[in-house]
Amino acid sequence: MGSENEVGIDVTALRKQSGAITYDPGYGNTGSCESAITFIDGEKGILRYRGYPIEELAERCHFTEVCYLLINGELPTQQQYDAFHNELTYHSLIHEDMKKFFEGYAITAHPMAILSSMVSALSSYYPHAESDEDVDLNVIRLLAKATTIAAFSYKKSIGQPFVYPANNLSYTENFIHMMFAVPSEPYEVPEVIADALNLVLVLHADHEQNCSTSTVRMVGSGGANLFASISAGISALWGPLHGGANQEVIEMLQRIRDDGGNYKKYVDLAKDRSSNFRLMGFGHRVYKNFDPRARLLKASADRVLDQLGVDDPLLDIAKNLEAVALEDEYFLERNLYPNVDFYSGILYRAMGIPTDMFTVMFALGRLPGWIAHWREIRDDPKGRIHRPRQIYTGPTERPYVPLAER
Ligand code: CMC
Repeated sequence: MGSENEVGIDVTALRKQSGAITYDPGYGNTGSCESAITFIDGEKGILRYRGYPIEELAERCHFTEVCYLLINGELPTQQQYDAFHNELTYHSLIHEDMKKFFEGYAITAHPMAILSSMVSALSSYYPHAESDEDVDLNVIRLLAKATTIAAFSYKKSIGQPFVYPANNLSYTENFIHMMFAVPSEPYEVPEVIADALNLVLVLHADHEQNCSTSTVRMVGSGGANLFASISAGISALWGPLHGGANQEVIEMLQRIRDDGGNYKKYVDLAKDRSSNFRLMGFGHRVYKNFDPRARLLKASADRVLDQLGVDDPLLDIAKNLEAVALEDEYFLERNLYPNVDFYSGILYRAMGIPTDMFTVMFALGRLPGWIAHWREIRDDPKGRIHRPRQIYTGPTERPYVPLAER
């Protein structure tokens, strides 16, 4: 029984007692662990990090405060917060040798490919982390350097020189600065963009046992180091059904716009099973009610576009699509509501973030969650390597036939 009264049936002895295993493809009804990090009630649209409602954190917290909360279990005192922030600033540079890695990537390289491989490569610079202190330091290094790696990958893709982190800026401001400043030209981070970035990062910070987080836990359960485990999570996030959906949403909205803006046609297409087309940004394994993050993002997208004076026709298409889908029998029956990816892309576009960086933004936001889960599994005294069973459906035993006789 969990602290929010969720009930789990312990089946660990089932096979020993009955010879059978449980069968649950996609793990829709399988609890893989106990976790004290994030609570979701998908029916009621509730999301809480360490007990704090997402709405309160989104409105009042800086992202680095949420990082501290997720990773350490409690909100920081002012002193702890200042020390954490200073450490993030101190470690934000990447080793100068690592800059050479960027020369090896193709100019067309997807920034998710760069991020996952560069995060994995961090373990070649900081390989030894046995003690808690060393692990804590690697956690800081990862959080601090990930934004630098992400911004450098963008600069590489547009052929501009890298912009180094600036020590006088906050974590979020610094990322915007490294993305959009040009060396030797003055640049001031627009407050509205820094605030919007803070919101999206807070909203993405954790989401319990999703595909990428379960991957991090899976890899970590075998004892792999922090950087290797998180790199695996980044790769898992890339898929279009998971974090890659934010890029797919914008590409879908662009397709609808280029096709004359007939969004109803695409709602019909999504309902047609033979089409293989899904409304990207709709549906969720856990939420069977409105995703609370989508609600906050929609409001923020409206606000930011208004403040920046951006008129994005894709926002109108998105709103129309949502209105039609929310009244449609097919979507109602299946509880398909907009998810976090539906409006985040519109917000990123308004902030000037290019489409192929969208999933990187998700990854930057999800880092503290992945780290918290990796730490939870590392510190779990009952922890076992993750190793599911299967129902074998291949051929039964048969003799080998030599090559010449086949
Ligand atoms: N458009 C049309 N039909 C859909 C959609 C959609 N976006 N999503 C689910 N369905 C249908 C699906 O065809 C199935 O219908 P039926 O019962 O007739 O076979 C039913 O709804 C249940 O779908 P499912 O695939 O069994 O649901 P799932 O829990 O396995 O998948 C999902 C969840 C998020 C992968 C899926 O809803 C989807 O593919 N959505 C589009 C991609 C997307 O937006 N992903 C981002 C998820 S939120 C952020 C994250 O996790 O990273």
